[in-house]
Amino acid sequence: MTISNRLKSLPPHFFSTLVKNVESALAEGRDVINLGRGNPDQPTPPHIVEALQAAVEDPATHGYAPFGGTVELKRAVADFYKREYAVDIDPDMEVAILYGTKTGLVELPLAIMNEGELLLLPDPGYPDYLSGVSLANIRHETFPLLAENDFLPDYGSLSAEQKKQAKLMYLNYPNNPTSATATLPFFEETVALAKEHDIAIMHDFAYGGIGFDGKKPVSFLQAEGAKEVGIEMYTLSKTYNMAGWRVGFAIGNAGIIEAINLLQDHLFINQFPAVQRAAITALSGDQENVRELIALYEGRRNVFIDECRRIGWDVQAPAASFFAWLPVPAGYTSASFTQLLLDEADVAVAPGNGFGKYGEGYVRVGLLDEEERLREAVRRIEKLKLFS
Ligand SMILES: Cc1ncc(COP(=O)(O)O)c(C=O)c1O
Repeated sequence: MTISNRLKSLPPHFFSTLVKNVESALAEGRDVINLGRGNPDQPTPPHIVEALQAAVEDPATHGYAPFGGTVELKRAVADFYKREYAVDIDPDMEVAILYGTKTGLVELPLAIMNEGELLLLPDPGYPDYLSGVSLANIRHETFPLLAENDFLPDYGSLSAEQKKQAKLMYLNYPNNPTSATATLPFFEETVALAKEHDIAIMHDFAYGGIGFDGKKPVSFLQAEGAKEVGIEMYTLSKTYNMAGWRVGFAIGNAGIIEAINLLQDHLFINQFPAVQRAAITALSGDQENVRELIALYEGRRNVFIDECRRIGWDVQAPAASFFAWLPVPAGYTSASFTQLLLDEADVAVAPGNGFGKYGEGYVRVGLLDEEERLREAVRRIEKLKLFS
C-alpha cells in the first residue's frame, strides 16, 4: 500500500524537529520553558463547559447535525458580528460552521479553485495554508510582509501577472506570526484590489478577539463591499480557549459560503450538535472571560517586553494576538538562535524561517506561560550576554 501523490505532496511539518528537540530536552529532565507553541494554556470558561455538559444530556443533540450547521448557531454568529463589529450577516446564506478554522482554510481551495489555479499567500504566514495548496493541487505564490510596511502587504509590488492570475488571496490580522494588526483603510484597499482584479479574499481573523491597550482588531467585513469579494474565518479556539473543541465559522460572500457548505455536506455533514450549542453560549453569553483573557495576555506582554528591553533587546510590543515577533541578535539566523536558546538557556521559541523566507531574522514567542516563567525565560537569555 502506498499513500497518494496528494498526501505525498503535503508540506513537511517544519516545526517537527523543534518539537523533537524540546521533547528530548524534557526527557533529560531539563526545565525547558516552552514558548514555541501556539496552543492556549488556559481552560475553557466554566459556563461554556457546563453548556456542553447540559447539551450532551439532551438526546436531541445525539443525531446528525443539520447540513450547513444548526440555525441557532448561525443566528448566534450573525448576532455576534452585529454586536462586536456592527456587521450585518444573513445567517442562512452567509455563515458556514467549521470544524475549526484550520479545516476551513484547507477546504477553501478545494471548494472554489481548480487544479493549477493561483493562490496568493503571505510570507511569513501560518504554515497550514500550504496544506490546502497541496491537497487541492493548486499553485501558490507569496507576497512579503515587511517590518518597514508594518507587516502589511504592499499591493503595488504584486506583478501584473500575479494580479491577473490570482483566484484567491489569504490575509491574516492580527497576524500569526508577526502579531501585526490591520487598519480599515488597508481592508478598503484590499476590497478595491479584489474588485479590480477579480480576486477572492479570505481573511483569517483567528486572533480577532485579542487586542491590547483597549484597541479592538478590525474585521475585514467592516470594509465597505467586503462581502462582495470575500469571507472572514473566525475561530472559538483563541477567544474562548476552545482549541480542542474544533469549532469556528466562515462568514461573508454567499457564493463562497455555499461552496464551503457543499464540500462539508460531503465530508462530514457538520459539527456535533452539542458542541454547536456550547458555541452559542460562548458567542452569546457573558463576555467577562474574554475581557479577563485579554487582560491576562496584556499583563504577560508587558512583563515580557519590559524584561526584553531591560536586557537591551530592541523589541516591538505586540498590539494584539498572543505572539511576540522578535529580531534575532546580530550574527545569528532564526535557526541558530533558536538552537542556542534551547541548548544554553532551556528556552524554546519558534524560528521565524518556519513561517516563510521573510520570517528569517526573527523568532516567535508565545505568551502562553505564567508571567513568572516569562520573566525567568528572559533572565536565562540575559545570562547569554547577547545584548548590550
Ligand atoms: C493564523 C491561524 N489561523 C488559523 C488557526 C487555526 O485555528 P483552529 O483550527 O483552532 O480554528 C490558527 C491556529 O493556531 C492560526 O494561528
